Amino acid sequence: MATQQRKILVTSALPYANGSIHLGHLVEYIQTDIWVRFQKMQGHDCIYVCADDAHGTPIMLRAQNEGITPEQLIARIDKEHRADFAGFGIGFDNFHSTHSDENRELASLIYTRLRDGGYIRTRTIKQAYDPEKQMFLPDRFIKGTCPKCGADDQYGDNCEACGATYSPTELKNPVSAVSGATPIEKESEHYFFDLGAFGDMLKEWTHEEHMQPAIRHKLNEWLEGGLQDWDISRDAPYFGFEIPGAPNKYFYVWLDAPIGYLASLKNLCAKRPELDFDSYIKEDSEAEMYHFIGKDIAYFHTLFWPAMLTGAGMRKPSAVFCHGFLTVNGQKMSKSRGTFIQARTYLDHLNPQYLRYYFAAKLGSGIDDLDLNLDDFMARVNSDLVGKVVNIASRCAGFINKKYDGKLSAQCSEIKLYEAFEANGRLIAELYEKREFNQAIREIMALADRANQYIDEKKPWALAKQAGMEQEVQEACSTGLNLFRILITYLKPVLPTMAEQAEAFLNIPPLDWLAIAQPLTGHTISEFQPLLTRVEQDKIDALLADTKKLLAANAPAEPRKITKSIKMDPIAEQIEYDDFAKIDLRIAKIVKAEHVAGADKLLQLTLDIGGETRNVFAGIKSAYAPEDLEGKLTVMVANLAPRKMRFGMSEGMVLAAGPGGKDLFVLHPDDGALPGMRVK
Ligand code: 2FM
Ligand code: ZN
Repeated sequence: MATQQRKILVTSALPYANGSIHLGHLVEYIQTDIWVRFQKMQGHDCIYVCADDAHGTPIMLRAQNEGITPEQLIARIDKEHRADFAGFGIGFDNFHSTHSDENRELASLIYTRLRDGGYIRTRTIKQAYDPEKQMFLPDRFIKGTCPKCGADDQYGDNCEACGATYSPTELKNPVSAVSGATPIEKESEHYFFDLGAFGDMLKEWTHEEHMQPAIRHKLNEWLEGGLQDWDISRDAPYFGFEIPGAPNKYFYVWLDAPIGYLASLKNLCAKRPELDFDSYIKEDSEAEMYHFIGKDIAYFHTLFWPAMLTGAGMRKPSAVFCHGFLTVNGQKMSKSRGTFIQARTYLDHLNPQYLRYYFAAKLGSGIDDLDLNLDDFMARVNSDLVGKVVNIASRCAGFINKKYDGKLSAQCSEIKLYEAFEANGRLIAELYEKREFNQAIREIMALADRANQYIDEKKPWALAKQAGMEQEVQEACSTGLNLFRILITYLKPVLPTMAEQAEAFLNIPPLDWLAIAQPLTGHTISEFQPLLTRVEQDKIDALLADTKKLLAANAPAEPRKITKSIKMDPIAEQIEYDDFAKIDLRIAKIVKAEHVAGADKLLQLTLDIGGETRNVFAGIKSAYAPEDLEGKLTVMVANLAPRKMRFGMSEGMVLAAGPGGKDLFVLHPDDGALPGMRVK
């Protein structure tokens, strides 16, 4: 039990205001919310703030596409996000927006302090510019042909077909994804933050307990690689804040996004006068400040953010806690597989407490990915929560309600057992504190097993049939309910709604770690209400069916084409027959096709070319789901020298024909073609 009250500020990453919350996001919000609720239950002064991340080019363009202002778009998304978070019981103390007065003021304050401290310099750089739309193009808004492998429709910074990285100027046939125009190069003056000036501070900072070992390792690599100046400005048109003293230059969205944490805090302080904003952000603040984020944005939070805060004379984070990504049934959440599940769709079908519990049961303090296996999800929730925890209460409550007017026994007859349960609270609290929720849940479920075992041994249902055993029945059931009370206390950070229902049923004030020191004796409980029902397979099926419908409804009617880029490739330079004869084309049977983690376009194929198998990475994911390819035939270049790709060695190349997107065709099984046959 904590003896000293801590003052803690906690944040989760700010969701972009141009999309819906999905289950991938919820890993983080649920993780943070559990930790915050745990801290509050320990009696600490803990506040949890968040906001929508409302600036940047994608938001500006989406609003334009919808024919509304960015302000209208972000107001709509704000409502949607708040409702989704509330649905999952995410108990923010404040939810605000980066497009707010507080954020404008704080971004200006931090920037002017950095500028006055000599940490900002300007430089003219060349960038891709869309002459039709009259705007500079971020890399992801430029598409073209990969300069290395010739794959079409690749982003401006890397090729998903061959894994090459390059600069947008190297792309062949580049087009603006906004207008389809061919980008030109244009010069513009940019503002840079001198990150290198904070190298020593950052080196020291990484040596302390501010991040997980895997992230520290990554950070050290970045530090050793040398710190580059960070470009913090963007040219108009841009949806964001204009930089003070720099007309038509805007803060890059990632400059004011983390400042949004502080803006949300400031907005909260205005509503709760007992909170003093400066006491949280001053250099020698006694408050702790923790950021929960996904591992993909560690760079921003462990380099730029502490450097910006230091340069502005403010405190640094106490720690940055990263988590891994969500996979569904072992694979990256995917629109084509229908596993890209929105928070709202989940809420339409399933109780949010199931997911809170399942995530808690799988979350540790590391950065490993977390898999939502839907069969395991159902089995685990039903067995642990319904079969073990709720079962204790339902087995005991009936007797107490019916035979003893709801009154618990005057004494706790099993004080040793009760104390053993209570003593476990210290370990469970430690595990929550260290974000080892999966271990905490394991401990709690071991206790639930013990409680059920106790009831099995006492058999109140048999005792109740024997004359003169009234006191024994009442004592056994009262013990069961007291053990249930302890378990619900331990589960309350994870299952706040169920805990509230249990409080009503047990007729007690809000549960906290301190209250369970004493068992409930001679106390009258209320009527038992079922606290949680089983997860049903048909609800999961309906969730998946609705997800598929929603994805189909939102998918563009036609594969998205950038009109100006649709040119027929010119016929390549003429070759002699001898050159052609060198190419050994073989019929190959696709015996296995798998997704490649981290690649949007590639599939990994295992090919049988008649007594020999080959591993090939092929950029045909847009046209085929892996399961649809298995068993099909294709033609492969069997004598192409193996190439090392980002994802492994590719031993050949498969041939497919078609304009691209969904229309790419391999051969279909055919009686006449056999793996290994030479194609002539
Ligand atoms: O990656 C993202 O979704 C960003 N919107 C997170 C911002 S977190 C913080 F810096 F604001
Ligand atoms: Zn390529």
